[in-house]
Amino acid sequence: MIKKGIILAGGMGTRMSPLTKAVNKQLLPIYDKPLIFYPLSILMLAKIKDILIIVNKGQLDQYKKLIPNGNKLGIKITYIEQDKPRGLPDAFVLGEKFIGKNNVAMILGDNFFYGQNLTAKLLDCAKIKSGAKVLLHSVQTPELFGVAKVNKNNKIVQLKEKPKKFISNNAITGLYFFDNKVVQYSKKLKPSKRGEVEIIDLLLKYKKNNKLSADFIGRGGAWLDTGSINDYYKTIAFVQAVENRQGFKIACIEEIALNNKWIGKKEINKSIKFYGICNYSKYLENLI
Ligand code: DAU
Repeated sequence: MIKKGIILAGGMGTRMSPLTKAVNKQLLPIYDKPLIFYPLSILMLAKIKDILIIVNKGQLDQYKKLIPNGNKLGIKITYIEQDKPRGLPDAFVLGEKFIGKNNVAMILGDNFFYGQNLTAKLLDCAKIKSGAKVLLHSVQTPELFGVAKVNKNNKIVQLKEKPKKFISNNAITGLYFFDNKVVQYSKKLKPSKRGEVEIIDLLLKYKKNNKLSADFIGRGGAWLDTGSINDYYKTIAFVQAVENRQGFKIACIEEIALNNKWIGKKEINKSIKFYGICNYSKYLENLI
């Protein structure tokens, strides 16, 4: 099982400026909790306890105020600053020491996943021993994402970042599972025309060696990239609707830690004290 995970939560959030001028995008609210809780909850559902969060230079203090380390969640959280957005595979260069000899999962800080059987799917993906695995989701606007064309056997036959010409509706979501080769491959990547190293180039290295596999988040699952203002508000509306209907919270990181038996009543009480009197704390109280 993959034991290490990275959340790439830097970037300038330019598409959402001026909201992101003073606050990092991943600290903005998605309904009742900060965006960063959502990708963090996904790694925790995959039973990953050792997590590196990559943040923008100068914004580390903002994150540490919210999640100082993983103690209250029974996990280990470390941070590294990225001095400028060099591209997604830069995570594996910056994270080389953290990754060590292990396999690693990476989730983008602005990605939202929800749906039935998601946990089972995550646990299945985290089993990979060699190669790389991506999760695909059908979208109506593939030109905005990395896209994969698959054949009848669900094998990826073509990959392209933000294709101008239609190749497929399958967007490559921002959750990736890699073997340890990812570090060496990432170090060798050259920046593209836009001056960044590209995740598609990294995936192409695996494809070339016949080591790239794909799974689907089916129709019962939701995936949203909160990186544009409209999708950001769509995600908020989605969370609000589901939580108010069901009474369960999406991405309550303490609840996931409790269900995973990583923490008990004592740690939940610490979190309640930390957050203060609020609806989120009330929800935590009800858990215990
Ligand atoms: O959301 C899925 C898509 O994410 C994929 O389909 C694309 O293949 C992939 O390239 C990526 O596209 P975006 O255009 O959404 O990437 P963006 O530049 O918005 O970066 C995604 C997140 O990663 C965002 O929260 C900022 C963070 N980031 C990005 C870069 C380039 C960093 O922390 N550091 C970086 O150097």
